[in-house]
Formats: sequence, C-alpha cells, structure tokens
Amino acid sequence: MTKILCMGAGLVGGPTMAMIARKNPAVQVTVVDINRKRIDAWNSDHLPIYEPGLDEVVKEARGRNLFFSTDVEQGIREADIIFVSVNTPTKTFGHGAGCAADLQYWEKCARQILEISTSDKIVVEKSTLPVRTAAAMERILHSGKKGVRFEVLSNPEFLAEGTAIADLDKPDRILIGGHPTPEGQRAVRKLVELYGAWVPKEKILTTNLWSSELSKLTANAFLAQRVSSINSISALCEATDADIGEVARAIGTDSRIGPKFLKASVGFGGSCFKKDILNLVYLCEGYGLHEVAEYWRQVVRMNEYQERRFVARMLKEMFNTIAGKRIALFGFAFKADTGDTRESPAILVARELLEENADLVITDPQALEHARLDLADGIDRVTFESDPYQAARGAHAVALLTEWREYRTLDYQRIFDGMVQPAFLFDGRNHLDHAKLHAIGFNVYSIGKAALKHF
Ligand SMILES: NC(=O)c1ccc[n+]([C@@H]2O[C@H](COP(=O)([O-])OP(=O)(O)OC[C@H]3O[C@@H](n4cnc5c(N)ncnc54)[C@H](O)[C@@H]3O)[C@@H](O)[C@H]2O)c1
Repeated sequence: MTKILCMGAGLVGGPTMAMIARKNPAVQVTVVDINRKRIDAWNSDHLPIYEPGLDEVVKEARGRNLFFSTDVEQGIREADIIFVSVNTPTKTFGHGAGCAADLQYWEKCARQILEISTSDKIVVEKSTLPVRTAAAMERILHSGKKGVRFEVLSNPEFLAEGTAIADLDKPDRILIGGHPTPEGQRAVRKLVELYGAWVPKEKILTTNLWSSELSKLTANAFLAQRVSSINSISALCEATDADIGEVARAIGTDSRIGPKFLKASVGFGGSCFKKDILNLVYLCEGYGLHEVAEYWRQVVRMNEYQERRFVARMLKEMFNTIAGKRIALFGFAFKADTGDTRESPAILVARELLEENADLVITDPQALEHARLDLADGIDRVTFESDPYQAARGAHAVALLTEWREYRTLDYQRIFDGMVQPAFLFDGRNHLDHAKLHAIGFNVYSIGKAALKHF
C-alpha cells in the first residue's frame, strides 16, 4: 500500500489530502502538524477551518485511509511520498523583510526529512515557493545520507479558500513539475497516477520543476493584477459617472479578456495574493530585473490605494469627521465562505477608522475570533457582535466589507430604523440592492458607481 504523508495540516494540506484519500481508498494518507490543537480539531467534529463541503469529505475518509497526527517522525519514516504544505509567509525580519518568502518552516521540514528517512522518498513541494527552491531542497536532502534517494517534485496548489472542495474535486488543471531524468519522470508518473484517480488525464500538466514553481506565483500575480486593474478603473468611474459594473460587463464579454476576476471591490485580500506578488518582486530584484519588479509591485500598491480610498470616501461623505461615531463593519473575512482574515482589506479599513477615532462594531458569521486577534492592539474601541442587527443599532454608518450571502437578505428597513440619521451605507463589495436601500432612506456609496444620496 502506498503511504503518503503531508507535513502541514493547514488550509491547503487538510482539504487537499482529504480529497486525495477520498479518491484513492487504497492509499494511506497521514497529515501531520506541529500544532497539536489543529490536529485535535481535525480529529474532532469541529474541523479547524470552515470550507463548504469539507466535513463530508473528511468524515468519509477519516479513520479509513486518512489520519491526522502529531507524530511527524513516524510519519516520515513510513512514507513513500511526502507532501510539504507548511506556511511560507512574507519575511518580517532581516534581508528581504516585507517582500521575500520566509522559508524557515519549509527548510526545517527538509532537514527533518533528511534526518529521519531510512528509505527512498518522493518529496513534493505543495507550498507556494520561490522559483528554484527545489534546487535548495535537493541540496539539503542530498547532503550526506547513505543510500537513501530523494526525488523532489513541484505540485503547487491552485484551490481558492471558500471553494476549496469544489476546486479540488474539479480542478482547472493539476500541475506537476519534475526532473527530466528517468527517476524524475518515474516520480512524476506516480503523482499523475494519484490525481488520475479522479482528474481527467488532459488536465494533468507535467512540466520541468522551475516552470511549475514559477507558474503558481505567476497565476496569483495575474489574478491579483486583474483585480487591481478593475479597481483602478473604479476610481475613474466614480469621478466620471461611468458605472464599473457596466464597464466590467463590456470588457468581460470580450472573449480575449473574459469575465472572471473583474469584480471591483474594496480590495483583494487573503494569505496568498500579496505574499506571492511580493515574492515574485523579490525574485525579480534578485535577478536584477528592476523594471519587472516595479511593474508587479504596483499591483500591490494599487490594492492598498483602493483600501485607503474607501476610508477616505467614508470620511469625506460623513462630513469630514467620524470621531466618536459608531460604525458597523459587516464582514471581516477577506471573502465570503471562509473564516480567514489574513490580509483582509477589513484590517486596514478598521485601523484607518480607528485612527480617525471612530467606535467600531464588527460582525461576521465566521471570522470574529480572527478579527479579535487582528485588532488586539486597538481592542478598547472595538466591539464584536455576531448579530448584524445589534451591530448596526445606534450606528452612523454600515460598511459592508465581505460579500456574505446572508447580508443580502437582512431586513434593511429594520437596520435603518435603528441607526442614527442621516444613515450611511458603504458597500465595499457592490453586493447589495442599492436602489432599494436608497428608497429605504440610506445614503448609499458603492465602488465605482455614482452615490445615491438624499442631500
Ligand atoms: N491558503 C490558500 O488559499 C493557499 C492556496 C494555494 C497555495 N497555498 C500555499 O500553501 C502553503 C500552505 O498554506 P496554508 O494556507 O495551508 O498555511 P497554514 O498556515 O494554514 O498551514 C500551514 C501549517 O503548517 C504547519 N507547520 C509548520 N511547520 C511545520 C513542520 N515543521 N511540520 C509540520 N507542520 C508544520 C503549521 O503549524 C500550520 O498548521 C503556503 O505556501 C501557501 O502559500 C495556500
């Protein structure tokens, strides 16, 4: 029986391995993590992450051929294939701080694999890594072990949080990079076989290692660039009475452009876009490609501009003062259907509002715990409230920052009646029925559209 180990039981490792185990009942899959709380949660009825459909997949395979454990060493010893899916955040210290990928967790895994292994292994990079990381991994793995062979593959993950299970079930493509040597190609075939259990062969792309590593960074950079591009035009729409929804539809119907990722908003967030673009920027700088680095850096800058612009507009429209005003933030997660708040635009928006001495009430169906940690330093002026009606009571403004479906169906008349007048609503996701809100009495501001005011 083939034995698979995954190091890192996070948002990628957990769901990905659950899917592999579900589709390959004859393969044993173990997911390990150094975080005991996380592993305990994976073994309980309350999984550590919220993903629609995840519970069923885990329940089907757990205990059959899917196991969660903290015994990293035993896992390594027994495994034929080891996926490394640990976090690779942006470095916060030393050389490349704020830009380069922090590879310390990843390197620790490589060293531990080398130390513990007594049999040949295929080591698969699942984490998103700078191009040519596999070369460094090989250097560590081949530094002095007698008779044990390691073959390194790159298999980046393209799932998106909130739709992880659907993305894993029907991926646009699976990317597997390996060396062109016979051993490398044999390892690639093993991984192809694993995914081939449910993914059509033509969707499994095999490439060289470096193309695979670079494609993941490039895919995220391109996606983020589209969001920054449409957001940049939203600012022009607000200045000219053009409508960003209409512009997006007009350009999105061009088959060369396509409609996806053209939704203007308060900004993109999540653990990957900013980190991966900065990773790309740092790589380009390292190769002396300063213009290329600057080009991609601008995508991140445009996003920060969009977030600040949102708060600047709130301030301007609310008579240039929000000090002491109660403002309700509807949503804190970086997008709907996830509790993840990493790099959520809500963080910067909240911080800027606090700078203006506003009193904040934050509500979110899944992300309040993370929000509390994100705003720990300003906590005395922030209230957390799970009920949106309570959150909006006595508020001067509601700012919608996450496109949770349930926010569409709230009773906005009831919300309006409980607010201080004139009541303001800022829709950072163009998610609500603005004409209806205006008819209720709200002054409505959205992204890239003319304001609907009563004065
Ligand atoms: N989150 C996403 O949407 C997404 C999508 C595609 C790719 N990625 C990439 O996948 C990688 C993992 O992302 P994530 O969101 O799952 O991160 P995460 O922070 O949710 O999970 C990483 C886990 O690795 C564990 N870990 C760290 N060192 C370890 C070690 N030595 N042994 C065992 N476990 C260890 C941590 O405790 C943590 O639980 C990153 O490189 C990320 O860029 C993320």
